[in-house]
Order: sequence, then structure tokens, then C-alpha cells
Amino acid sequence: MPDIKQIESNEYEAFHSKKFFNEQWKIYQKLLDNNYIRHQEMYSILHELLVSYFQKPFKMLDLGCGDASLTVDALLNTNIVFYQGIDLSVPALEIAKKNMARIQCHTTFTKGDFSQSISEFALEGHNKFDAILMSFALHHLHLDEKCYLIEQLQNLLLPNGVLILIDIVRKQEEDRETYIQRYLDIIQKDWLSITPEEYSIMANHISSNDFPETQHTFQEISQKYGFALFECLYRDSLDITQMLCMYNAS
Ligand SMILES: C[S@@+](CC[C@H](N)C(=O)[O-])C[C@H]1O[C@@H](n2cnc3c(N)ncnc32)[C@H](O)[C@@H]1O
Repeated sequence: MPDIKQIESNEYEAFHSKKFFNEQWKIYQKLLDNNYIRHQEMYSILHELLVSYFQKPFKMLDLGCGDASLTVDALLNTNIVFYQGIDLSVPALEIAKKNMARIQCHTTFTKGDFSQSISEFALEGHNKFDAILMSFALHHLHLDEKCYLIEQLQNLLLPNGVLILIDIVRKQEEDRETYIQRYLDIIQKDWLSITPEEYSIMANHISSNDFPETQHTFQEISQKYGFALFECLYRDSLDITQMLCMYNAS
């Protein structure tokens, strides 16, 4: 695939990418189709933010973009001029590329680990972005890795740029185990289209890979790395997901 740039791959990534796509992609589509993790609400707010905040041409980086299906809807009728998507999964990027054809802007797709890509961007003195989106892709990192990544992302943002995090977030005073159990209970009780086999795959994945932080922790990270403003634009009624923004100073 000539127009998807391949950042150095390794066996772990290839395995992860294939495994994610085969095992979990179909389940993730069910989550989207049923709006279980409130994508509709958050991407509608994202669209409003992009329209109102960027009244001039803007450039956006989407880390863990997946197939970008909802990002495309959020970008319709905005002033986007450049979009760069990064993901581990080539099949997802292939779909993202087709989806993004609906938007009239320059696009680049990179296959690779976003942490590695961002470090390479820093070394290369890569062009900066007005908006950086991470939607349901940050929670696999441990806290020190999240901090390091967000520090690097702050340096990749232009003045007035915004880092938009859409993700699972723990309640204040709730530890990881309590959150995971509460989340799994909600899935089992309320997500009726998930089969027992799919639940088992999800429970296994969530228990081993999900490391949600509290909103307060993100606020502290935002202050520590010099963002001028931190804002929560959405918090779902079950306290599972949030949409958080960190704004760069002008
Ligand atoms: C749950 S999906 C979210 C997709 C989309 N952003 C959304 O909100 O619907 C997570 C995506 O992040 C990608 N991903 C996870 N870890 C990654 C990493 N370290 N580097 C690049 N992509 C990653 C996965 O391949 C997957 O496409």
C-alpha cells in the first residue's frame, strides 16, 4: 500500500494489529452501532468544537484513528486543511483512507505505534498541529507513559492548539480494579447485543489492558506540561467515559 507510510514495524505490532482487527474490530463496531460508549454525543460535541474554535484553516493529528469513521463526520463542514492519522492496524487505515476521501483536505496515514511516531516527529522537527485527537487509544498506556506522551504532544501543538482526549475515565477516589469491575458489570447488564463469547473477549482485554485515570489526574498533567486551560466537555451519566480538552496558550 504505497500511500500508507509504514513506520518501522516489529513482530509484536504485527501480531497486535492482526489480533485486534480479527478479534476485536467486529465487537468494536457493535459498540459504535449501539452507541454504548457514547461516541455519538462526544463526536457531536467534537464537531461543534472544531467548527467554532477553528474559524481559520487548521491541521489535525488523530492518534489511534482506527477507521476514522466518526472523525470524518466531525470534520464535515470544518476548515480542516490537513489530516494525519496514525494506527497500528493496516486494515483499519485502509478503511480510514476511504472514509477520509469525503473530506476535502490533504491526508497522510501512518502505520505504526503512535508513541514511536511522536518521538520521531520530535526528532525530525515535524510540522505542528492545531488539533490532536486521541479517542479511546490512550487508556492502554501506564501513567508515566501517558505523561511522557502528553508532554511530547504539547510540544507538537501550535499556539492556541488543543489536545482532545476522548476516553474511559475513573471516578475520583475509585481505583483501577473498582472501575474495571463497575465497567464490566455495566457491559454485562446493559449491553444486550454483546454475546457471552464477545463479553469474555472484552472482559479479558479490558482487565489486562485498560488503565483509566481520573479527571483530576488529567487536570494535573495538563497543568504540569504548561497547557493554559483544561476543560471537560462531556461526562456520561454512568461515569465511564469523558471528553477532555487541554488548550495551548496563544
Ligand atoms: C478502540 S479503537 C478507537 C478508534 C477510534 N479512535 C475511535 O474512537 O473510534 C483504538 C485504536 O487505536 C489503535 N491503537 C492502539 N494502540 C495504538 C498504538 N500504540 N499506536 C497506534 N495505534 C494504536 C488500535 O489499532 C485501534 O484502531
